[in-house]
Amino acid sequence: MGQSSQRKPVRKAVFPVAGMGTRFLPATKAIPKEMLPIIDRPLIQYAVDEAREAGIEQLIFVTGRGKTAIVEHFDMAFELETTMAEREKSLAVLEPTRIQPGNLVAVRQQVPLGLGHAIWCARAIVGDEPFAIFLPDELMIGSPGCMKQMVEAYEEVGGNLISVLEVPREEVSSYGVIDPGAAQGALTEVRGLVEKPRREEAPSNLIISGRYILQPEVMRVLERQEKGAGGEIQLTDAMAQMIGTQPFHAVTFAGKRYDCGSKLGFVEATLALALERDDMAEDVRAMALRLLDQGS
Ligand code: G1P
Repeated sequence: MGQSSQRKPVRKAVFPVAGMGTRFLPATKAIPKEMLPIIDRPLIQYAVDEAREAGIEQLIFVTGRGKTAIVEHFDMAFELETTMAEREKSLAVLEPTRIQPGNLVAVRQQVPLGLGHAIWCARAIVGDEPFAIFLPDELMIGSPGCMKQMVEAYEEVGGNLISVLEVPREEVSSYGVIDPGAAQGALTEVRGLVEKPRREEAPSNLIISGRYILQPEVMRVLERQEKGAGGEIQLTDAMAQMIGTQPFHAVTFAGKRYDCGSKLGFVEATLALALERDDMAEDVRAMALRLLDQGS
């Protein structure tokens, strides 16, 4: 398509990580919830890996007090690396934590006013280009990854894109929900968006699942700081105001999603990922069967 060559590439990603993680207390009293590991990688690492696979160059963390461990994680640990090298240990395991100099930026969300406000805190770094957003609680496992699938769709249709998935009707009130228009393959036109609707008022059971590619104009809408569901400044409300002014599509992710914002989802992700790892699958399967057997 001729148009796609004029499209600015998606080079920047915003990771809102200022939340207090109260659902995982006391584990998250002194460490950020994004640093809780699924096996041997902290949750934030999965999101960053997905971003880099999609061609994202600059990572923008919207952090808050007590969240410095996230930035530390992606810094070079000189003493650790020197000690490991001296002991002839491979440094390959640290590879995913390396960021090109200057490509990690942390801004603070000083007050927890909502997801929309968190994103708006990154406006000066995002500047005048399309950008991605990752909610690290939503662990998306696929090949290619969710954001890569979205970037491919973006190259086709441009504008704004969100990842969506179907949930049972009873769950829609916990999420942002789309009013779907025409669908073609994995792409669905978005006609409307509503944050945390009542079940009977939800326009569908297709929910926003934590990945976005947005145009910078959304920052101007967020600038108005209008409050929505739960008294918070909602990203969903700002996006809803963009519909009609710019193309807006949903991408149904071909892959698996784990809600690591909940304890059950976290356990599910840990088990599922362990069962997919060549170095663990067999032992974990045997262990799970043994535990289930004991339980019965
Ligand atoms: C946020 C978004 C919501 C989205 C959800 C995905 O809600 O506001 O639209 O569906 O993440 O996890 P939160 O979980 O922060 O309440």
